[in-house]
Amino acid sequence: MKKIVIHSPGGHTHLKLEEHPDLEAGPGQVVVSTHAAGVNYADVCVRWGVYESAKRFVGWPITPGFEYSGFIKHAGSGVTRFKPGDPVFGIGFFNSYASEVCVSAKHVYPIPAELGLSGSAAFPAVFMTAYHALFQLVRLPARARVLIHSAGGGVGSALVQLCRIAGFESVGVVGSSHKVSYVRELGANHVIDKSKEDWSRRAKELVPGGFDAVLDANGTSTLRASYELLRPTGKLISYGSHSILPMSASGRMNYLKAAWGMIRMPRFSPVRLFTDNKSVIGFNLSFLFDRDDLITEGMDALLRWVEEGRIIPPKVTEFLLENAGEAHRLLESGQSTGKLVLLMNRNANPS
Ligand SMILES: NC(=O)c1ccc[n+]([C@@H]2O[C@H](COP(=O)([O-])OP(=O)(O)OC[C@H]3O[C@@H](n4cnc5c(N)ncnc54)[C@H](OP(=O)(O)O)[C@@H]3O)[C@@H](O)[C@H]2O)c1
Repeated sequence: MKKIVIHSPGGHTHLKLEEHPDLEAGPGQVVVSTHAAGVNYADVCVRWGVYESAKRFVGWPITPGFEYSGFIKHAGSGVTRFKPGDPVFGIGFFNSYASEVCVSAKHVYPIPAELGLSGSAAFPAVFMTAYHALFQLVRLPARARVLIHSAGGGVGSALVQLCRIAGFESVGVVGSSHKVSYVRELGANHVIDKSKEDWSRRAKELVPGGFDAVLDANGTSTLRASYELLRPTGKLISYGSHSILPMSASGRMNYLKAAWGMIRMPRFSPVRLFTDNKSVIGFNLSFLFDRDDLITEGMDALLRWVEEGRIIPPKVTEFLLENAGEAHRLLESGQSTGKLVLLMNRNANPS
């Protein structure tokens, strides 16, 4: 099998394509010959050595990747749901940038026709993140007003879709004009292009009474303003901090920028929280991989919505596995919309 291995933190050249022995399924596991692996911003953070769960649970060397699609190669003892050749996809805890993955059969799903082979590799991580944020972490009122930062990205575009399904009024914020139409097509009620206008002033004009929730993975650059936009009982959901990370084409970490961003990270006083009646909540799904209850409930609901045609498959841009650095470069540029995937097969034609 071939896989991408990172031996030490660094730029794009630290993503090494290597040959390794084929995998064997243990009890309750399956080995999947992969067609594609989804690329997430978290994988870039893994490469930089700043992704906490990767440092805590894996260390170096590490193969990034939280999601894959492909065909069952073989199943371990006790697995009766799948047989060799079945098309499947699922969530993995790292290791998905590889032509084979060995995973617990619990988190493997048949590929719905609506998603297809590449679309299913682009689906579970961002949709499960969005589902957890909107439906498991908090209980929002009917017709909640929700502001979504980076609404054209992977998680952001999933949040826009889930808001539409839930009947929430969504305001998407994007950093570049070319993302506006995509976010509208997914069902956002309003889109703010922050490259053209003051996003917080426009958000206040659109929803003068304040938001029930703001979804913010920018971190330092917007958290304070996001908090101010909440109405009493509103929730600021913080799930990332990409604004303190570099956007340079070199792909190298800028520790000075990150340290300065951490120093300027807003602190929220508990006294202010209870007098304002607002909440600040954080989560990171990669620390919840042992929570089968959350993943099963979320994936069941999401796959039902896919089958009912209520979820539009994410827009996918394909790269070959050996060009993983190019995919990372695009994601780091902040210009991508939808999702990126890595194809394992040289004969597959990247779009
Ligand atoms: N906590 C969790 O469980 C969890 C799970 C999945 C993802 N996440 C986080 O959610 C965020 C989105 O992840 P994703 O994979 O879906 O990525 P993405 O949204 O497809 O791409 C990142 C987007 O963030 C914005 N951005 C702002 N500053 C940036 C910077 N310095 N570098 C790159 N992009 C920047 C850009 O959009 P605009 O310019 O349009 O804003 C960019 O398109 C990331 O912060 C990720 O770590 C958290």
